[in-house]
Formats: sequence, structure tokens, C-alpha cells
Amino acid sequence: MTGNVEINIDGKALTLPTLVGSEGEIGIDITSLRNQTGCITIDPAYGNTGSCESSITFIDGETGILRYRGYDIAELAGKSTFVETAYLLIYGELPTRPQLAEFSELLTENQMLHEGMRFHFESFPPTAHPMAILSAMINAASSYHPNIINKREERFPYHAARLISQVRTIAAFSHRKAKGLPAIYPKTNLKYTANFLHMMFSHPGEDLELQPEIVKALDLIFLLHADHEQNCSTSTVRMVASSRANLFASASAGVCALWGPLHGGANQAVLEMLKEIHDEGDDGSKFLAQVKAKVGNRRLMGFGHRVYKNFDPRAVIIKQQCDKVLAQLHKSDPLLDIAKKLEEIALNDDYFVSRKLYPNVDFYSGIIMRAIGIPLDMFTVMFAIGRMPGWIANYKEVMEDPDSRIARPRQIYTGPTLRTYQPIEQRQ
Ligand code: CMC
Repeated sequence: MTGNVEINIDGKALTLPTLVGSEGEIGIDITSLRNQTGCITIDPAYGNTGSCESSITFIDGETGILRYRGYDIAELAGKSTFVETAYLLIYGELPTRPQLAEFSELLTENQMLHEGMRFHFESFPPTAHPMAILSAMINAASSYHPNIINKREERFPYHAARLISQVRTIAAFSHRKAKGLPAIYPKTNLKYTANFLHMMFSHPGEDLELQPEIVKALDLIFLLHADHEQNCSTSTVRMVASSRANLFASASAGVCALWGPLHGGANQAVLEMLKEIHDEGDDGSKFLAQVKAKVGNRRLMGFGHRVYKNFDPRAVIIKQQCDKVLAQLHKSDPLLDIAKKLEEIALNDDYFVSRKLYPNVDFYSGIIMRAIGIPLDMFTVMFAIGRMPGWIANYKEVMEDPDSRIARPRQIYTGPTLRTYQPIEQRQ
């Protein structure tokens, strides 16, 4: 289908133009629909709605394809690094050596938090979830740089680097605070992921001995999470950006959207589910029977996806990595055995097969994070660190679009029609 689409509403014919993407996806442009017919479209949860044109990430959920700026995720996972991939997502091309050096330098220069931010950490209760701290602190960071509001285009590369760099410092500080440990400052001689592990696990006077396989595994997790087109959190970032809010405010909103267990919070929920199955001595079959019977609306966490109706290519890479990391660290994990068993049963069960439910990125990532010592309540924070370049790239796309307008959906009102105010003494 190309060109135009004819529709007929109450006998009135209307011609709507179509848009064809570079991978052949077709969208019907309904921009003129309401003006011409008075009707709006309804698409709860946006399963059929394209909210924008974007040149950042391509997903074909039917065949399990994911590409950043045209590069296949498996190729990037094998050959690139998180920092190089972040540059690719934000600026559209793989960096040359000098460009990568300049970008890395900017990350290093901006890794320290303003010392005043240390006091904000102090005011969180010990029960605070690290995602609450992360969101609040990202927003707080914007207040230390007023030019984020006034000179935003000119200063964009600086603010983008500051956000990518500092999200990792904030995350590590929030972990140290929750554990009652002193903050460890970043080092200038360490690369991005190694520096994060240093801030998480070193002690004053005793630096963490960095294991290359652990650094590599976490870097890969960041890379695999770096973007995923118009998901809930990215759409949130774009929505907030459309009001011309600053980059940090938009990213902070993205963190909140990511936190939920149906989105990024699923990685924590998967581990909690696996632990529960393990503690009950179940091999997974009792749990799956409850899921299928929808007991308490239970779900097999880490399974299913709005877009993928086939294997999530990230899950395939992470599963392989899981076995590799555990072998390298000479560890075994009974939760990995349970996860594999659940996958095996689900992939052969009509409930999951008929609904096209496959393992997603969150199904195995928690097992790797657990193996490398990341605490459970920090799992979704790892997702947020990884997703930051994608949010920044999407923010940039909104800001650079000359046709961008404030995002403002409509609704079908179903409440009472006009009625008159009754004084309180007359109300039943
Ligand atoms: N376990 C059991 N049943 C499921 C699951 C699941 N994980 N996911 C979907 N279903 C069922 C659902 O009950 C419904 O069944 P029925 O037709 O009988 O009503 C059918 O499949 C369609 O589900 P849906 O909720 O309409 O699908 P959706 O596209 O709105 O939701 C999802 C997508 C990812 C929220 C959902 O699959 C889910 O809740 N999965 C578990 C949470 C999870 O792993 N989330 C991480 C997503 S990937 C990382 C990310 O992008 O954040």
C-alpha cells in the first residue's frame, strides 16, 4: 500500500495520505481527520498508533530484529562497547577514533556530581528504592546548571555527556547510601563500566580488583538496553520533551515510567519470582499452572512483549552470556536452572505458544546481575543507566524536529453530562 487511503465516515469520503518508512512500514496519516470529520481515533495503550517518525531504532517484532541506526544488535553486542553505541545512538553514526576520544573525555570530565548533591542523598530514608532516588537526583542535577534551560541547543553535547556520566555516579552513590557505606568517587583513569563497578564495590583505601569478564558482561547489559524505540519510558521522555522541558527533567520522567514491573521493573520481578519458586521447592510447573489459570493475575515475568511476537533478540544474547559468565566465575545458580525449565515448559505450552509469548530481555539479565554482585533493588537502575543514550537520542530528535508540537492526545468523555451545583444541605 502506498500513496493514499480512502475511508468513508457516515457516507463522507475522505482521502488520507500514507507514510512509508525505510524498512517498508506503512502508517496512515490521520492529522486532518478531526478537522475534516469531527471524529478522533481511539487506541488504548497505543497498540496501533505511531506517535512519531524516528531514525534511531528499528524493530521487526514478527521476525525478532532489533537495529540501532541500522546496525544489528547482535553485531554491536559482539563488536562494540556501551560508550561507542551511546555515541552511535545520539549522533547517528559510529564515531571515528578522535570523535570517540572526545566523547569519552567529555564523559570523564563530567562524572563528578556537584558536591552540594551529596546533601540531597542524606535526606532519603533507608527504605527508599534506588529508582526513586535516581529519578529525584537526575532532576536535582538540572538545578546545578541553569544553562540547561537557556542555552540548551548550544550546550547539548555537554549536557548529554553529563547525564550519561552522572547517572552512573548517582546510581552508585544511592547504593552506597542504602548500605550505609561511604561514597566512592569516580576515577579518571577508568572506563565507563569499570568506573561504575569501582564506585559500587571499592572501599576507601582498598580498590575493587576489576575482573575483565565482569566488566564486559555489565557493559554488554548496558549496550543491549540502550534503546528500544517507542516503549513506555521513551514515549514518556518524548512527551515531556515536547513541552520543551529540559533534558534532565525529561530523563527523570523516563526513570519513573521505567520503574514499573511491566516495563524495566520486570528484571527485579523475574528474580523475585524465581526465588519464590525455588523457596517453595517447585520446579516451575505449579507456578505456571497458576499463571495459566490467571490466579491473582499472576504473570510469567520476563515473558511476552508488546512488539516481539517471536524471540526477543536481546534475550537470545543474554541467555548465552548467562551461561558464559557463570562458567567464567565458576558459579552455578539454581535460579538459572529454574529459569531454563520455565522457558522450556512455556515454549511448548499452548497458553504461551498461542499468545506468542517468548522470553524478553529481562528473563535472564537478572541472573547475570546477581552473579556479578548487583543487588536486586538495583537491577532496574542498571536498565536505566543502559537506556539513557536512547532517551537522549529521542529527546534530541524531538528538539531538532521543526514540526514538533506539544504532545496532547484527546479522549472520549464518558462522564456525566451538564448538571447544576447543589448546595450541600440538599445532597442525599
Ligand atoms: N505471562 C502470562 N500471560 C501473559 C504474559 C505473561 N508474561 N504476558 C501476556 N500474557 C497474556 C495476557 O494475560 C493476555 O492473555 P488473554 O488474551 O487471555 O487476556 C495476552 O497474553 C496478551 O497480553 P497483554 O497484556 O494484552 O499484552 P501487552 O502487549 O499489553 O503486554 C507485556 C506486554 C510485556 C506488558 C506483557 O507481556 C507482560 O506483562 N509481561 C510480563 C512483564 C515483563 O516481562 N515485562 C518486560 C517487557 S520487556 C522489557 C521492556 O521493554 O520493559
